Amino acid sequence: MMDTLPAPLLEIRHLTTAFTGKHGLLPVVDDVNLSIPPGACVGIVGESGCGKSAVAMSIVRLLPQPSGRILAGHALFRGKDLLTMPTRGLNTIRGAHIGVIFQEAMQALNPVQRIGDQIAEPLMLHLGMSEGEAHARAVQLLDAVQVPAPAQRAQEYPHSLSGGMRQRVMIAIALACKPELIIADEPTTALDATVQRQVLALLRGLQRETRAATLLISHNLSIVAQNCDFVYVMYAGRVVESASTKELFTNPQHAYTRALLSATIRPEMPRKSPLTGIPGSVPAPYEYATGCRFCQRMGRQSPLGPERPHFAEIAPGHFAELCPACCDMAADH
Ligand SMILES: Nc1ncnc2c1ncn2[C@@H]1O[C@H](COP(=O)(O)OP(=O)(O)O)[C@@H](O)[C@H]1O
Ligand SMILES: [Mg+2]
Repeated sequence: MMDTLPAPLLEIRHLTTAFTGKHGLLPVVDDVNLSIPPGACVGIVGESGCGKSAVAMSIVRLLPQPSGRILAGHALFRGKDLLTMPTRGLNTIRGAHIGVIFQEAMQALNPVQRIGDQIAEPLMLHLGMSEGEAHARAVQLLDAVQVPAPAQRAQEYPHSLSGGMRQRVMIAIALACKPELIIADEPTTALDATVQRQVLALLRGLQRETRAATLLISHNLSIVAQNCDFVYVMYAGRVVESASTKELFTNPQHAYTRALLSATIRPEMPRKSPLTGIPGSVPAPYEYATGCRFCQRMGRQSPLGPERPHFAEIAPGHFAELCPACCDMAADH
């Protein structure tokens, strides 16, 4: 576990991303700052609809078009801004230095291309391998992600694989060029619990082996707790708290983080017991308050009125939105 912050590999500054919907162009990511140290696993957690995927898609400029648009901010990867870089440079970085794993492998894989060819392609393109070398390496990679009979599987098409196996293929493609950063957006959400654990353990093992940094996005707090060194908690388009995993889970300060924690199934609870969920639901972007959005969720007036709470350091490396109704420490800052 890392507790100090070396120079970041990726630094997101003041990111604001919007979608055009029937209510017009509305921000769904609202001035988000996040930093990923080299080799670290950084998590983003929050309920569905809070803007986690929009952050991930902004970084690699894969927002749905024409509705998605980055309105402001920077995503500095080794000091270079991915958001303003020419497409050519970005394509190289995306294939060779940043590996992306999304929730639905079937959408990301090409249904009419053999699995082996899909893994070999970036190896030829970015690492200049010959076709033969790339194919041999593709089989090794399938073996590394624990796909049984890898040489045979390489010849097959995605539809012949189970969901868990397809997700392993996605991981093999994402890791093929030994990226310095892996962006994994709900990489196991579509899988059942056992396969989910296996795939996460595999991803973590490979990440340690290759020393790749990871941005792991999940609505599941336990997944983030078990895998990440640092955690960012997102609510309604904003980061409301961030800290090292240990600090966040032993000393949560924002009311939303606490609510998420108490809504998470504890292992000692019987499997079918209902979640003590957070009341209400995440508002749609056209409903977002300008002031404290968790006060809005709780149906109370924020003591700050329409003013956005400051996001400030409340303990070394521990940041939170300082709404007096949502954070006890707000009074001290
Ligand atoms: N293609 C889209 N067009 C319009 N709105 C979208 C689109 N995709 C997502 N949104 C909206 O953006 C907000 C953030 O979504 P998303 O980033 O997917 O959240 P999360 O990943 O945390 O579940 C949500 O309100 C969602 O409805
Ligand atoms: Mg998402």
